[in-house]
Amino acid sequence: MTAASAPGKVILFGEHAVVSGATALGGAIDLRAKVTLQDLPGRILIDANNLTLRGFSFDLITGQVLSAEAAHATRYVSAVLKEYEAKDLRVKVESNLPPAAGLGSSAAIVVATTAALNQHFGLGLSRKEIASDAHRMEKAVQQGLGSPMDTALATFGGYLQISRRVQPLDLPSLEIVVGYTERAHDTRSEVEKVQSLLARYPDLVGPIFQAIGAISSRAVSLIQEQRLEELGEMMNINHGLLEAVGVGTRELSELVYASRGAGSAYGAKLTGAGGGGCMIALPPTGGSAALITALRQAKGTAFSVKTGSEGVRLERDL
Ligand code: PMV
Repeated sequence: MTAASAPGKVILFGEHAVVSGATALGGAIDLRAKVTLQDLPGRILIDANNLTLRGFSFDLITGQVLSAEAAHATRYVSAVLKEYEAKDLRVKVESNLPPAAGLGSSAAIVVATTAALNQHFGLGLSRKEIASDAHRMEKAVQQGLGSPMDTALATFGGYLQISRRVQPLDLPSLEIVVGYTERAHDTRSEVEKVQSLLARYPDLVGPIFQAIGAISSRAVSLIQEQRLEELGEMMNINHGLLEAVGVGTRELSELVYASRGAGSAYGAKLTGAGGGGCMIALPPTGGSAALITALRQAKGTAFSVKTGSEGVRLERDL
């Protein structure tokens, strides 16, 4: 047996603006997807399980669906198996990342599957190759759109600043509370919507993207120096600018306002493509539990994560 795991991520600042070349900042989180490979001569079997989807099994050879749900994991795992012409395997996916929520679940699955195959079949891929192959495969499944942020964070972990290129940053860990609306989002359609707004109103949306890029750059030293109140203000401004380009929803706003109000957060914003998915909030020191309660009262699923977590790794506890 061979197993590998890779982390999910949060975009702290800069989503959407990064698509047009502005700076964004993201961090790997301590929720992971784990992929285990076991030899299974003559068959390819994918089992997936996670917190938000009930377990299921899908046999790629016989086409037998043992319990239909979670097409998400299967799509990504089968793309990776195809890429490396891997067969005679049982692939088990265990993830505690909700899919299509903006937390990098698909990238974590692609990267963990690639790293596990790399080890199992001695493919000799470097980390850099895992990151770039994974980005290409994720993009192909998602049909074209998508920055390398998710796959790079799943591979390398830590924090990444991304503009025209991807740059690792050495920053301290942050405790962040995630509020999930329980509504899946479609990154591609949100990106298309925002890009169309930019094309129609470049004089308005261009400066918004510039301001978002400036926030991402400013945030680096605020995290470095643990200036959390100002960091919270940056989150609030970034959220307002994302609302301005139309990717907010009522549910996301309710969670953002609950965080800033009853949750006493320093700041809150949506994270990822918007239109559903998740928001993040920065609790005052020792204030995560109260913030989680406030989010749950506002009908969100809430949990606390740490940023700056380790990238893809082989799991040896078998
Ligand atoms: O919601 P996610 O994790 O798919 O993030 C999308 C982030 C965007 O900036 C909107 C698109 C991208 O590829 O960077």
